[in-house]
This record gives sequence, C-alpha cells and structure tokens, in this order.
Amino acid sequence: MIVIVTGAASGIGRAIALRLAEEGGALALFDNDREGLEMVAKQAAETGASRVLTRPVDVASADGVEVAFAAAERDLGTPDALVCAAGILAPGGLAETTEEDWNRHLSVNAGGVFHCLQAGARRLRDRGAVVVVSSNAARVPRTGMIAYTASKAAASAVTRAAGLELAARGIRCNVIEPGSTDTPMQRDLWPDAEAGRIAAVHGDPGSYRLGIPLGRIADPADVAEVACFLLSDAARHVTLQQLYVDGGASL
Ligand SMILES: NC(=O)c1ccc[n+]([C@@H]2O[C@H](COP(=O)([O-])OP(=O)(O)OC[C@H]3O[C@@H](n4cnc5c(N)ncnc54)[C@H](O)[C@@H]3O)[C@@H](O)[C@H]2O)c1
Repeated sequence: MIVIVTGAASGIGRAIALRLAEEGGALALFDNDREGLEMVAKQAAETGASRVLTRPVDVASADGVEVAFAAAERDLGTPDALVCAAGILAPGGLAETTEEDWNRHLSVNAGGVFHCLQAGARRLRDRGAVVVVSSNAARVPRTGMIAYTASKAAASAVTRAAGLELAARGIRCNVIEPGSTDTPMQRDLWPDAEAGRIAAVHGDPGSYRLGIPLGRIADPADVAEVACFLLSDAARHVTLQQLYVDGGASL
C-alpha cells in the first residue's frame, strides 16, 4: 500500500506512519519539522516500510502541498491512501484569541486538510481511502480553545463533504476525532503533567470536562490502530464517519 501521511514527524501522525510501516507499506511522510521527519523515516524503514519518501511541507500552503503530492506520485506511484494528521493547537479563549491566532488555526488545521484532500483527490486510485485526524473538540465545545475547535469542526466537515463527492469513485473518507492523547501537543497544554493528566482522566468541573470513562489518556498507537482499520479493506463499506477515539470522553 502506498500512503501519504501528513504530520508524520510527531505524535499521532508518527504512530500511524510506524504502524503502516509494520505492514510493509511505501510511505510519503510530510511535515514542516524536517529533523523530526528524518528520524521517523529512519524508524519507518527499520520497522519494515518498503520505501520511504520525506519532504518538508507546510500544509497551509496549497502550492507546497501540490508539489509534495506530485513528488510522492512520481517517486512512489499512485497513492492508495492519505492520512492527514498535521495540526496545531495554541490555547486561547474568546477574549484573548487574536485575528492572527484565528487565521493560523484555520489555515493549518482546516486549510491544510482542504489542500491535501484536493491534491489527494487528483492522485488517489479509485477505491482508495482517506483518514483525517480531527479532534473531539470539533463536536464538543471546549473552554480556552476557540480557534482550535472551529478549525477542527471545519476539518471534519470538509472531509465528509469531500467524501460525499469522492464516493462516486469508491474513495472512502473518514474522520477520527481523538480525545486527550499522550503526544507533545498534549504535554504542551499541561505545565504540570501529572495534574493535567489527573484533570483529564477524572474530569475538571472548572472547564466543564466530564473526564475519561476508560480512565486513561490515549496512547498515539490507540489512534493509529483505528486509522489503519479505516484505511484497510476491513472497512470497505465505511465512509463519511466521524469516529471518537477518546475513551468515552464525549459521552
Ligand atoms: N494529542 C491530542 O490530545 C490530540 C487530541 C485530538 C486531536 N489531535 C490532533 O491530532 C493531530 C496530531 O497531533 P499530535 O497530538 O500528534 O501533535 P504533535 O504536535 O505531536 O504532531 C503534530 C505534527 O504536525 C506537524 N505540523 C504542524 N503544523 C504543520 C504544518 N503547517 N505543516 C505540516 N506539518 C505541520 C508538526 O510539526 C507535528 O509533527 C493534530 O491534528 C491534532 O489536532 C490531538
């Protein structure tokens, strides 16, 4: 399987890339973190990826994404699947979020997905698959994350709308909406890691969070397993879905 993965240098995107590598896939790994990308590419090759191409790209740039996808097609062949995991989160509530914060979240988290869907649709084989990593914040309001929640709602919506158009070609498009997952993005939100973990798991009335019924923060591999299922033929009749992978946090 030939798969393009964005956000592959860290966290969830990295876990998905390494899980796909176990299956011997050919991988095009994109991220704007050049060094992180090279480290993951090395690990993916050691894990079993048949071929690995890397390219530093800012998904907010339509031209940059187009050039990167063209290179992936030229060097690896027609892609079977696309995973969009690149994303940013800079906390900010209604009062303190600046116009710049707003635009940056929309450009990367929603625009990035849009650019990849467009460039992907031009190249994916018929009956291919797309998985977009959005967030449970797309459907559950969160305090202190105004721009992020809006950008993730847009990412989920654009994926399902694109999926409706691409269904005619048998291309399936699904959204994963994770909850708290142990990655650098999550740890950056918690100045005190243990207090943050406890508040996420047990709930925090001050921020209207109910907690995580399964009693644990997700590991990136938990999300990777679901992504690989959705990309696989086992999910051949599943499309246009938004799937929470959050231990029940959005009950
Ligand atoms: N960690 C969580 O708790 C959590 C929860 C819900 C959703 N998510 C989503 O999962 C996805 C992965 O996040 P993560 O937790 O692994 O975070 P992470 O910070 O570990 O990884 C995100 C990756 O995206 C890359 N990236 C950021 N901006 C980019 C850009 N403009 N162009 C290309 N690459 C860019 C980063 O360099 C990084 O490698 C994100 O979309 C995030 O919103 C994470």
